[in-house]
Amino acid sequence: MRVELDRMREGKEQKLGSETNAYRLLAEDVLWSGVAIDSLAGRYLVSLRNAELPREAEEWLCAQEADIFIKHLEKGEKHSPQPLRKPRHPLQFSICENGVRFMMDMGSGYSQGLFIDQRNNRLDLRRNCQEGMTVLNLFAYTGAFSVCAALGGATTTTLDLAANCLNRCKENMRINGINPSAHYFCRGDALHWLRRFAQQGRLFDCIVMDPPTFSRDSRTGGIWRAEKDYSDLVALATQCLSTGGSMLCTTNSRRLTPETFRTIVATGAGPAATLSSVPMPFDFFPETYLKSVKVTM
Ligand SMILES: C[S@@+](CC[C@H](N)C(=O)[O-])C[C@H]1O[C@@H](n2cnc3c(N)ncnc32)[C@H](O)[C@@H]1O
Repeated sequence: MRVELDRMREGKEQKLGSETNAYRLLAEDVLWSGVAIDSLAGRYLVSLRNAELPREAEEWLCAQEADIFIKHLEKGEKHSPQPLRKPRHPLQFSICENGVRFMMDMGSGYSQGLFIDQRNNRLDLRRNCQEGMTVLNLFAYTGAFSVCAALGGATTTTLDLAANCLNRCKENMRINGINPSAHYFCRGDALHWLRRFAQQGRLFDCIVMDPPTFSRDSRTGGIWRAEKDYSDLVALATQCLSTGGSMLCTTNSRRLTPETFRTIVATGAGPAATLSSVPMPFDFFPETYLKSVKVTM
């Protein structure tokens, strides 16, 4: 297994090149059931889904000169990853993805600041943006999509329920040489804002939506579920899309198959839309939990 992990690291790092230092070293269920390992700028983050850290994995990890963190993916888990031994480097650090920097924080709770499984979608967005384009990033978290759209030349609107996420987005912009004051930030519920944009006739050239599988509206107590409500979200967003605009819809709901998710998006987008599915980054193979559908109007 040790040799296998060394071989995987060498092969993946060679394929990714020098501009990316955050990737999935070991995809879930490849060597051990429920065990995945991410390599994040020289740190290792082990995710365990109803699994213990295998002895052989621990031996390999402890032989590395790197900080190692363990994260439990069981339902309801909310804690920051736990260090396997005393960390030698700061918990806050930046990673590089296709030359773009993003801040990560091992002490900020369950999520570390960047979902590395969205790498292909971020690169695609950056390549397809140009000066003068407008991009709406819904459910933005730390705004990684906004950073890529802004680097591509677009003017971005970043929207999230959490004010802290918007601040983290601004920081991600700054470390990439982007002035946040040239961009827009909205705090609040994505559905509320979309309705408001639609009423105002406000249109965007591109909309990115990566909602959680489940969300509760703190004002109304209403519950949003990807399986039940994604279609309506797409339909509403379609009203805010300019002619010829595009939309990226993603979900990591394990309850939805790629086919079902595509049907949900197609229903919301209507008959005029053209759909294409985007695969997960190669380093996640054979995992398929992240479903991405690109919609062009
Ligand atoms: C899965 S993360 C999004 C990840 C992000 N798209 C990225 O690529 O980094 C979900 C985000 O949605 C936000 N959120 C949850 N419910 C929301 C709502 N009703 N309206 C707006 N944002 C919401 C959360 O605060 C969280 O930051």
